Amino acid sequence: MSNHIDAATALSEKSKHYLTLEDKYGAHNYHPLPVVLEKGEGVFVWDVDGKRYYDFLSGYSAMNQGHRHPDIMKALTDQAAKLTLTSRAFYNNVLGDFEKYITEFFGYDKVLPMNTGAEAVETALKLARKWAYKVKGIAQDKAVILTASENFHGRTISIISFSTDPVSKDGFGPFTPGFVTVEYNNIASLEKALEDKNVAAFLVEPIQGEAGVHVPDEGYLTKAAALCKANNVLFIADEIQTGLARTGKMLACDHENVHPDVLILGKALSGGVLPVSAVLADDEVMLTILPGEHGSTYGGNPLACAVAIESLKVLKREHMAEHAAQMGQLFREKIRGLNSPLIKEIRGKGLLNAIVIEHSDKDAAWEICLKLRDAGLLAKPTHGDKIRFAPPLVITKEQILECVDIIASCL
Ligand SMILES: Cc1ncc(COP(=O)(O)O)c(C=O)c1O
Repeated sequence: MSNHIDAATALSEKSKHYLTLEDKYGAHNYHPLPVVLEKGEGVFVWDVDGKRYYDFLSGYSAMNQGHRHPDIMKALTDQAAKLTLTSRAFYNNVLGDFEKYITEFFGYDKVLPMNTGAEAVETALKLARKWAYKVKGIAQDKAVILTASENFHGRTISIISFSTDPVSKDGFGPFTPGFVTVEYNNIASLEKALEDKNVAAFLVEPIQGEAGVHVPDEGYLTKAAALCKANNVLFIADEIQTGLARTGKMLACDHENVHPDVLILGKALSGGVLPVSAVLADDEVMLTILPGEHGSTYGGNPLACAVAIESLKVLKREHMAEHAAQMGQLFREKIRGLNSPLIKEIRGKGLLNAIVIEHSDKDAAWEICLKLRDAGLLAKPTHGDKIRFAPPLVITKEQILECVDIIASCL
């Protein structure tokens, strides 16, 4: 915390004013980097003093399309001028278009729209349990869902029940039963757990973002999905952070041509404009939930649907997946080329990357992020010694090179 205050002393009085407000009136459930932003456009954000920064966090990968993408802003304002919320008590004239567009886009029979990522994960878990009882024939209340070590799927009680991070769960028990942890990127561990005939589903991130961008071995997803299929178990991919062109393919599962039984999307589904999430599955799974059994007041609202359609169209129209693949490769190459003794490892796919810092000071990653901030690039440490680098996918080659120079100067 002293770092936080020391760093804040370098800030203007105006910035300090906003820090003090959040500190005094807001819950202390985050530890933000001391910088107060008021404007964003494309790959850039500006602070309250007018200083410009490269945004290398992109709202935890919600801003794949860049800040305030003009086409998404137009969809937002056009729809906002007509109708924003009906609730699902009535039909609206945008939801159906969105449902058709997104299911055809990803190749599923149906979609269930929600708002935040955590809600979509909860939805997938409920679907898996219903399917287990109604279709697979598991005895009532006996369904088991497998999850991976070092996962991150959100913050609700049920989701943290299967977290392996003590900081996420300490003091929040009792926890929801029915989850069993398997080791991430370990096929034998999954195979063993699948011996339990009550397993309904395996929930997994194709790349673990929050854990520090853990990319599993090539073939892991293919083998995991095949094992699930052989055992009549649903393969659920949480692509909330990895999806929507971030890793150089539309979905991270596309790197291995894996088509999950249940696909969870969020974050960039709205281009960072408002919370929109979705669960996709085929009829056998999706139609197990009946009217009254699940829902959300804002889920499927026309404003969200209009924004989500355009957010998906922008990704395709601007070839963002291909661009992310190229820019990511360039970025990793250049960072490796720095040969910095401070960088133990650089890893990632597309524009979802992290460096692991090698230093005896456990706050080194935080200190580097403060230096990056001063040099005009915003990034945030994750799990102590890692710094995630995930700029908006609209970043150009020249900008990547400039950012590598900034990073080099700070190291
Ligand atoms: C893989 C993954 N799943 C779920 C979530 C939760 O999303 P939200 O914060 O919108 O609830 C996140 C958020 O970082 C995530 O990265």
